[in-house]
Amino acid sequence: MKILLVGNGGREHAIARALARTSTTDHPVELVVQAGNPGLERLGESRTLDPLDPDDVLRRVLGEQVDLVVVGPEAPLVAGIADAVLERGVPVFGPTRAAARLEASKSFAKQVRAAAGVAPAASRTCRTIDEAGAALDAMGSPYVVKDDALAAGKGVVVTGSRDEALAHAAACLARQGGAVVIEEYLDGPEVSLFCLSDGATALPLVPAQDFKRAGDGGTGPNTGGMGAYSPLPWLPSGAVDQIVHGIAQPVIDEMARRGTPFVGLLYCGLAMTSKGIRVVEFNVRFGDPETQAVLALLKTPLGQLLASVAEGTLAEQPPLEWKDGYALTVVLAAQNYPDSPRTGDVITGAENPAVLHAGTARNANGELVSAGGRVLNVIGTGPTLTDARDAAYAVLGTISLDGSHYRSDIALPAVEGRISV
Ligand code: AMP
Ligand code: GLY
Repeated sequence: MKILLVGNGGREHAIARALARTSTTDHPVELVVQAGNPGLERLGESRTLDPLDPDDVLRRVLGEQVDLVVVGPEAPLVAGIADAVLERGVPVFGPTRAAARLEASKSFAKQVRAAAGVAPAASRTCRTIDEAGAALDAMGSPYVVKDDALAAGKGVVVTGSRDEALAHAAACLARQGGAVVIEEYLDGPEVSLFCLSDGATALPLVPAQDFKRAGDGGTGPNTGGMGAYSPLPWLPSGAVDQIVHGIAQPVIDEMARRGTPFVGLLYCGLAMTSKGIRVVEFNVRFGDPETQAVLALLKTPLGQLLASVAEGTLAEQPPLEWKDGYALTVVLAAQNYPDSPRTGDVITGAENPAVLHAGTARNANGELVSAGGRVLNVIGTGPTLTDARDAAYAVLGTISLDGSHYRSDIALPAVEGRISV
């Protein structure tokens, strides 16, 4: 099976590695990858392509005669890559533009949730600054202010300061057609549950937890994610079933009922609150960096699994197989991430097989350099969460990148038994 993987960050490096690692002699996977990531490029034939241009992606799909297209990031999906490829009869792992609205518009996601009977957080969509101010006062502190449009995980401000909340609302509204969502604050630990969907059946992967803030202890600004681990030793048994039956499956059923079936991965971002499980957000693709931990544990051949999603045969899949133990990923970020990350610094120590490349490139001298905010993802695995942590941090200690930073407390609250539901 020849697969074209669209996207070239750490998540795609993890997907490509899992595709290669679980490839079987009966069903070998051959990979064509998007150029630009020196780590990812080693795992397949690399091709330049513009992931946001459906015609360009289609040119590669037809030129390389691929059997399946797997799309990593959300932006190409929102740009209609899947629609263009499906029109030519090639299977795609990833939703159409219409189904990708579950992530692209927070207000659309709320409508679908309401229709699916999934308990929402209280929220108001505002189109003027006066409406936003009134909604902040109605909801109270801490304030949760979200850009209605796609913002790569950085459109959300959670703050105790009304001034900061209002300033972010103003920034969201300043954009053409801008809207802002003011939401009730959800207390309780967060869970990322990835559910594969072929349009009808929801199949959960192992749950993970992401660390969104830049600094230890959850301080500093929100980022795309600074680390993750899986599975979650503190999650009550039965929670995954509850999420699948109470949230993912009803949403998938509602999308099918609307005539825009959801095919791909439905990322359920949840909070385990004192009032029950609440949805923080939906995404329409693998989470980054949770995927780096989750896929490190997968034993089932990933290529066949993603193909069965695209072909609508998920119900016939045997139960997924997972390695025992835990996996953890720590993000090594560039100086000044998430504000204005510095790029072009030389990286040493990235040859370790525990390292995935997220934002790297080669300079004119052929040296590996930083080329994005999140530069490397270091993976640790082990029979206990402590072992997985120790493994990842030991490798981090051998990597050098001037000005870089990482969180030292990934999975620490879980290891110390400080998470309660
Ligand atoms: P989102 O882009 O909606 O996932 O939001 C990014 C992050 O902001 C989430 O992962 C949470 O950490 C935080 N967040 C979003 N919505 C809420 C909420 N209603 N209450 C508390 N924290 C939130
Ligand atoms: N890790 C958060 C995200 O992928 O959106």
